[in-house]
Amino acid sequence: MRSLVRLRTVPLDAQARRLGSCYDIADLRRAAKRRIPRPVFDYVDGAADEEIAVAANVAAFRSWRFLPRVLAGVASADTSAPVFSSTLPVPLVLGPTGYTRMMHPDGEIGGARSAARHSLPYTLSTMATTGIEELRGSVGPAAELWFQLYLTRDRVQSYDLVDRAAAAGYTALVVTVDTVVAGNRVRDLRNGLSIPPELTLATIASVAAKPSYWYQLLSGPSLDYANFAGRPRTTIRKTADFFDADLNWSDIESLRARWPGKLLLKGPVGPADARRAMELGLDGVQLSNHGGRQLDRTVAPADLIAPVREAVGPSFTVLVDSGVRHGADVAIALALGADAAVLGRAYLYGLMAGGTAGVDRALDLLTGQFRSTMQFLGMTSVAELRKHGPDLLTRAGALLREGRRAKPSRMRRRHFLWRRLFVRTARIIYVIRKVFVITAVAAAWRRSRWGWGCGRGWGCGWGWGWGCGRGWGYGRGGRGGRRLSGPVAGSGSGAGGFSASIARARSTPASSCGSRPTAQSSGVISTSVSGSTP
Ligand SMILES: Cc1cc2nc3c(=O)[nH]c(=O)nc-3n(C[C@H](O)[C@H](O)[C@H](O)COP(=O)(O)O)c2cc1C
Repeated sequence: MRSLVRLRTVPLDAQARRLGSCYDIADLRRAAKRRIPRPVFDYVDGAADEEIAVAANVAAFRSWRFLPRVLAGVASADTSAPVFSSTLPVPLVLGPTGYTRMMHPDGEIGGARSAARHSLPYTLSTMATTGIEELRGSVGPAAELWFQLYLTRDRVQSYDLVDRAAAAGYTALVVTVDTVVAGNRVRDLRNGLSIPPELTLATIASVAAKPSYWYQLLSGPSLDYANFAGRPRTTIRKTADFFDADLNWSDIESLRARWPGKLLLKGPVGPADARRAMELGLDGVQLSNHGGRQLDRTVAPADLIAPVREAVGPSFTVLVDSGVRHGADVAIALALGADAAVLGRAYLYGLMAGGTAGVDRALDLLTGQFRSTMQFLGMTSVAELRKHGPDLLTRAGALLREGRRAKPSRMRRRHFLWRRLFVRTARIIYVIRKVFVITAVAAAWRRSRWGWGCGRGWGCGWGWGWGCGRGWGYGRGGRGGRRLSGPVAGSGSGAGGFSASIARARSTPASSCGSRPTAQSSGVISTSVSGSTP
């Protein structure tokens, strides 16, 4: 028995246990959601307005189906890929994310260390909570660091960042061009996520529910936009004033003249804009809609890869982000013509779930998935994957449409008919059951009303009174009810029986009380009696 079944060893460390039970990015997302206060999780997971673009980004990758090549001898498949002057072990880059230390105290340093361990580039955001020089100092000179730039209204400040990044040995500058105004993040507004926070009751409850998160956060250095240290404090809300709606191509020309390293545009860059960037001497584009966090309903970057590649030719670098959640997405991006995929939420979920170790876990999972996808596809190298890419993919929609057009077989039609019949019968049974339940509940409710003796309605029975206010009443309960009779005080309404039944009902506990008297009472007593009902 022992040789057949082995008990899995469970690590004692809670974080190792948590990460060890995550087998894909969706698992890491769930683990992060459990660990992190809701407003923080929503800041990462949420997007702009109706969050259509963020879902569409993921769907765009998932809309492709593979047409693998078999018997290709893929035991030694090589996943390495050239990006600029480096050869990456897998075509992955860690993208820029603002306010990363809010997600976990390891923050940007954790992300960059994990990237360096995997020999991948890490991109530091302008809005980072770790400064340009501090990050370089933490990861050492060998780590490949890129810097993401928001060209703000204060050009002196922006150029200062560019010069500092160059001096600190950052090798690529990624200029984000989809943030001319701030995105409308509805979840953040609802949660009151701002600096200083405007706490709602729900936010306070979620804070109270995660004390360990708050302890870690509050015992570390205070959260701030580290690249602007020494300047007047900025808030998330004031961030909107940062961005420059006048940003245009001449700014990009100036940056080209200033920045000595690789220069990329990051945004929903279409084929015409990508060509223009190439003509201005840029080194590449990072196709992105900011993970749906800026203009909602922007085209999914995955759908831009092929047209952009066609417009710029083979030697211009094309990266893609927004919606990468699986190694198969990376393989699709490359098959469509990208040089590498850039990660955003995919590694942030790992960071939130377990700091640096969580980012490691995310990168290991994606690397493994990418490798096995390549092997399943029958590809032995990334160059081969890119060369045969178009033959390896087909749109799922196209297959579905063809299937729908074809006439279904007789057996299939019969199957549909039976299914429809079954569904309709089930629906009818459901409705009947619902009506029955509602009637039963209503009857029980009415009965209990009478049981308390506080209802109004028709009484039954008869009685007669004499003198002033004393008499006999007789009430008969309806369906299964009890006889109620005895001397009662007259109701003064001329309905002694009615009052008798009510009087009894009032003095009888609900459970043992008779059901609502039926029959009519009027006319049974013609003489009005006066008196008080107990
Ligand atoms: C929490 C968060 C913060 C981000 N901050 C920045 C930023 O400061 N600068 C930037 O250019 N992009 C930023 N992005 C966008 C990412 O670089 C990337 O484009 C996006 O996350 C890709 O979408 P995905 O996460 O759905 O894959 C941020 C994304 C997230 C989720």
